[in-house]
Amino acid sequence: MSAPLPGDRSREATVHRMIRVDHAGEYGAARIYAGQLAVLRRGGKADLIRHMRDQEQVHLDTFNALVGDRRVRPTVLLPFWHLAGFMLGAATAVLGERAAMACTVAVEETIDAHYTAQIDRLGESEPALRGTLQKFRGEEREHRDIALASEAELTPGYRLLSAAIRAGCRTAIGLSERL
Ligand SMILES: [Fe+2]
Ligand SMILES: [Fe+2]
Repeated sequence: MSAPLPGDRSREATVHRMIRVDHAGEYGAARIYAGQLAVLRRGGKADLIRHMRDQEQVHLDTFNALVGDRRVRPTVLLPFWHLAGFMLGAATAVLGERAAMACTVAVEETIDAHYTAQIDRLGESEPALRGTLQKFRGEEREHRDIALASEAELTPGYRLLSAAIRAGCRTAIGLSERL
């Protein structure tokens, strides 16, 4: 085997950053839905939330495996996302089912854009990873659609709540790529 070119090195570092942040994001998403269910487990939307949570668990399991197989260092922020994800899910759920769904729209739209940027960046490289991202992005869009159909936009203060959660998610993405 020949020595890796410098370009391969930086490409690998880029892919590792992608897997690190996606692992963190799916970890946080699973915790958000857990927080929502802790509050809304008897509500009319509980089955929809369980469906989304179950899909997030598959996403997380996939990235757990990728972190192991490709020897990616997970973000040091996981303990923080453990708490912050649950708190975000539970706090919006306490405001009501519509607010929980508003949180879902904000989170899933941010993840959709994030996955789209990664898919574009990968181009023709890493076809397996790209396929995984495309599949998951489809499910995140489904989650957004479920939340929109559940009257997320009728939440009082929707625009402000949505903007705050989007900003928080983008900060979380930036930190989890680096740390
Ligand atoms: Fe996900
Ligand atoms: Fe999702």
